Amino acid sequence: MQNTLEFAKKGLNKNGFLDIDVDPTLDLEKEINRLKKEKNMVILAHYYVDSDIQDIADYVGDSLGLAQQAASTEADIIVFAGVHFMAETAKILNPQKKVLLPDFKAGCSLADSCPAPVFSKFKEKHPDHVVVSYINCTAALKTLTDIVCTSTNAKHVIESIPKETPIIFAPDKNLGAYLQKITGRENMILWNGACMVHEIFSHEKIVKLQLRHPEAEFIAHPECEPHLLEIADYIGSTSGLLRYTQESDATEFIVATEAGILHQMEQKSPHKTFIPAPPNNMCACNDCPHMKRNSMEKLYLCMEYELPDIEIDEKIIERAKLPIDRMLEISKKAGL
Ligand code: 13P
Ligand code: SF4
Repeated sequence: MQNTLEFAKKGLNKNGFLDIDVDPTLDLEKEINRLKKEKNMVILAHYYVDSDIQDIADYVGDSLGLAQQAASTEADIIVFAGVHFMAETAKILNPQKKVLLPDFKAGCSLADSCPAPVFSKFKEKHPDHVVVSYINCTAALKTLTDIVCTSTNAKHVIESIPKETPIIFAPDKNLGAYLQKITGRENMILWNGACMVHEIFSHEKIVKLQLRHPEAEFIAHPECEPHLLEIADYIGSTSGLLRYTQESDATEFIVATEAGILHQMEQKSPHKTFIPAPPNNMCACNDCPHMKRNSMEKLYLCMEYELPDIEIDEKIIERAKLPIDRMLEISKKAGL
């Protein structure tokens, strides 16, 4: 066992996940459920991971729901089927617990678009501004933040700040511009970051698709570009989009967010049709390459060997927890 673990650690350093062959005859579902019970683990999964992982998770949700679950879980070990910033947030909320991420290289283009040292210099130039950061950022960036937000609570977070107080919003310029529009805040500076998945949708192809499906409603995540949000029938976080498809009278939807969410939409409304919004690229794929690094094999291996696990410096945890706690408090007050 020790040798295997040493070998595993070497594989982990190189590849970001446990590079061990899994017996193809192994019943992964059974093994994952066994490990979950034996080790008192909880599997938290984002809507964007593959459907087989969503189906085996204890909780599937958006970034806010996942953070809330992480904050309240009684499990000894949190297994995060999502991306690095989500697992980091879970670790910040549970410094004493082990938090596992099946693939360490499951990152986020938005988080990458705002390196903390560069942001720190930018922040110094605006000392009177309150910093609101989208949860899709590194723990280091959270230490430079006053309040964290997600797409579900962003409006409430912005509105919790006095109107005359100027705000820096990072890192997503599209969500930031959308918030400016719906809150009427003009004193907001936006960091120039974006999500690679939500900026790939083709306006032209979506309009053509609408012509072919005149009854379909076009729904979009606020990480999409403003020209797409302008033509959307509904704009919301992943949980908001999911709820809308259940409540709307429409039976057909063109969905502009990562395609993983379609699994839940189809399960919750089996009689309705969901069309992934077409992207600009030739492969017609709007998958998040980071979310899709999660697989059943990697999930099983990380639960078996308890690697890769998230490690964060104590001082960073202490400072980064403040803006997350503020976000959770605002969400609680708003009944989210
Ligand atoms: P939400 O699920 O919170 O809407 O976030 C979407 C996203 O891009 C997560 O990476
Ligand atoms: Fe990051 Fe975009 Fe992937 Fe979400 S979908 S994890 S914002 S790259």
